[in-house]
This record gives sequence, structure tokens and C-alpha cells, in this order.
Amino acid sequence: MPSGCEAHRGAMLHFLDDPGNDPEPRPGTYEYFEDGLLVLNQGKVLAKGPASEWLTKLPSDAKVTCWQDGLIVPGFIDTHVHMPQLGVMASYGTQLLDWLETYTFPHEARFSDGDWARTEARRFTNLLLQHGTTSALVFCTSHPESVNALFEAAEEHGMGLTAGKVMMDRYAPENLKDTTAESYSDSLALLQKWHQRGRQCYAITPRFAATSTPEQLTLAGKLAAEYPDAMVQTHWAENIGEITWVRELFPERTSYLDIYDHYGLLGDHTVLAHGIHINNEDRQRLADTGSSIAFCPTSNTFLGSGLFDFRATRDADVSVGLASDVGGGTSLSMLATMAEAYKVCRLRDQTMTPWQAFYLATLGNARVLHRDEECGNFERGKIADFVVLDHRASPMLAMKEPFINNLSETLFNLMILGDDRAIAATIVASQVRYQRPALPQPDTLPTHSHTQGA
Ligand code: GUN
Ligand code: ZN
Repeated sequence: MPSGCEAHRGAMLHFLDDPGNDPEPRPGTYEYFEDGLLVLNQGKVLAKGPASEWLTKLPSDAKVTCWQDGLIVPGFIDTHVHMPQLGVMASYGTQLLDWLETYTFPHEARFSDGDWARTEARRFTNLLLQHGTTSALVFCTSHPESVNALFEAAEEHGMGLTAGKVMMDRYAPENLKDTTAESYSDSLALLQKWHQRGRQCYAITPRFAATSTPEQLTLAGKLAAEYPDAMVQTHWAENIGEITWVRELFPERTSYLDIYDHYGLLGDHTVLAHGIHINNEDRQRLADTGSSIAFCPTSNTFLGSGLFDFRATRDADVSVGLASDVGGGTSLSMLATMAEAYKVCRLRDQTMTPWQAFYLATLGNARVLHRDEECGNFERGKIADFVVLDHRASPMLAMKEPFINNLSETLFNLMILGDDRAIAATIVASQVRYQRPALPQPDTLPTHSHTQGA
């Protein structure tokens, strides 16, 4: 053990592979240490295992941080989220197309102001960390400044984000639209500046087929072909009104998916957000091309978009990630996202086990983003991104604790009853970037007297 290494002690869970979606996880797909030790050196994982085994091997000067009653898991990863939509969250009463026009586009237009973009980008990365999210695939706006602002904020925290400039050259307000030519040159310049600079990666980001001309989609596909290791992200088959409109705009294509396919935008570096109203032919094409769907449950229920068919997608061997889709989504918390995913599955008489949910939010999502050689679990040599979960974080979680019998129930309680309060600390590349202030105990909560308005 080199001198200068450090360690974190607590209960510890991580996945080695997909545990499946049966009540019992597939053997060998996870490791759990009730009293574990995660040994770090120079921001990376050096070793992990039972504390009793590893404490004796540490050099005498090693700092050991004990997270009593904490559960250490890999940092959460979000496969679809919009940096400029924090202020759009909880906008009342619309479905997708009205929501875009009424709330989202006017808000995104504010990001032409570089100062505003930098303030919001910093707010966004701080909030991600506060919610236990250490990496994400992110939409910025059509303004290049918004992309620079986000990557700069990520660099300050040492976190790795994948993000891109929205390409959108039609059916949007003037102050948000780009032009076809500049959408290519701006995306290219940003890609060349940020892709694989430290932990940052670029994502080619046509918003969705409706707001891009065929020429713009052609250029997005050209960029994807020129940079096959950059990600591609867009929206797909989210809302019935959207689908009807897109089909009218591209009558020559056989399906919504065929539009993206035709312009060279499918492949194993592509993440399509939503994919709700789709059929088996679509799923087969996704599986054949290795394209992923980002399942965005809080957004899909909030905007009334529909219920994603998790089982059919898994059965077709399509890669699925879990995502918040803030600001259509209602929480940056991947725990809250897991809860909603479970409920969406139940509404279809399906299920998502806590094992599957925690796998998706960590290693599964790292795989979708091609970051699994860098993070997603605690294999030796990976960057030490992790969170410490507090399974007594709220009065409700604390109340449930005596009734919990096993790890599966602990995880299920965390995902159903947990939220950002359950994030005791977030560590990025071995640096503590967020630590929750001490919470008041349930019996010392102040009492409020409510008076009726006059
Ligand atoms: N489709 C096109 N743009 C958006 C967006 O910003 N959010 C969601 N949920 N769907 C979209
Ligand atoms: Zn989205």
C-alpha cells in the first residue's frame, strides 16, 4: 500500500454486472460488505473489501473516514437531464409541445447571457452533487456559452459530464434558433475544445426531429460519423402530439425512428430520451444498432406522456438507462427517479427490483454513457466517485428502519422513501464535494403554528 493512500469505512454495495430483474439478483453480479473499506490512492480505487481484512494492510499514516451507519455506493449517473431547465421544473398544466412553447423555450432563451449561463451551470452542478449524482448526459441550450459554462463548472468539481449544444434551426423562437451552418460549426468547435478534455465528453445534440431541418440532421449525422466516440443524444417518441407532428414533417420516412436512422444518428453511442410510444420493430432496430433509451419516469408522469414499457425493452435486449429529465422531470434525485420507475412498471403490471434500480443508476448508466471503464463501480483503478447514503435520513426512513429485514428491503426503502436528504456525502475523484448539514432529529423539529389568511 503506498503511503498517502486513504480509506472510507462503512457498509458498501456495488455491482459487477446486471443483476437481472428477478427478486434474487443473479449470482456474482454484486458485492456487499456490511463493514467495508474502500481504499483510495490519487483519486482512484486501490482496493475494497471487509474492513477487518483491509485495515491491517493500510500504512500507518493513512486517513480513514468512518461513515457510521452509512451505505457507500458508486456515485449516481443520470442519462438525460437539461442544465437550463432547473427553473422550468414544476410548471403547471401542460403536455410536451405546449410545455416547450409556454415555459421551456422562453426560459432557455435567457442563456444567451453568459453570466446567467455561468450562474445556472454552477447551480446545476452543485445541485447534482447535493443529489448524489456524479456524472450525467446533459442538454445545454443552443447557445455555445451554455456548454462552456457547464463544462467549466464540472471541471471545477473534478466531475465528468457528457454534454452538448442543442441543434435547433426551426420551429423555435428567434432568440433560441441557430442556423443550419452555425449549428455544425459551433458544435464542431465545442467538440474539439471539450471532448475527452480531462473527464469531459461531448454529445452531438439535435433537440428532436421536429426542431431540426433535414439539412441540420444531415450535419448532425456527419459530425457523428466524423467523431464516432462522441455521444449522440436526442428526444424520441415521447408524446402522441409530438409523434403526429414529426410524422407530418417527415412523410418520406417509415417511422419516427427511421428519421434518426436515415440521418446516421443511431449507434451504440446514441441515447434516445423517452421511447414510450414504440413497437417491436423499433426495439429490434435499437438492439441491432446498440442504441440506448433513457427511461425518464418522473417526466413521463408529470407531463402525462405515457408509461414506458420497461419489460418489453429489456426483453428485446435494448440498452436502457434511467434518467431524471429535469425540468420535465420533477426531481434531480436518482432515488426519486427509481421510485417513479418502479411505479410506472407497476402501472403496467411489471416491476423493477431494487437491485435492478440501483444497478441502472450506477453501473448500468455508466455503460450507457461508455464511462464504465472510468466509474460506475469500485473496481480497482476506477475513479473514486461515490455517495454515502443515510438510510435514517428522514423521519419516514427512520420510522421504517426497525421493520427492515435484509439488504433488498434497505435498498427498496431508500428508493421509495428517500430523496436528497438521504445523501449524507458525495465524493468525486476521492474529494468530498458535498456533505449534508446535520439534520434535526424528529423529536426536536420545531412546531409551526399556521394562521389562516385573511
Ligand atoms: N422534446 C424536445 N425538447 C424536449 C425537452 O426539453 N424536454 C422533453 N421532455 N422533451 C423534449
Ligand atoms: Zn429531455
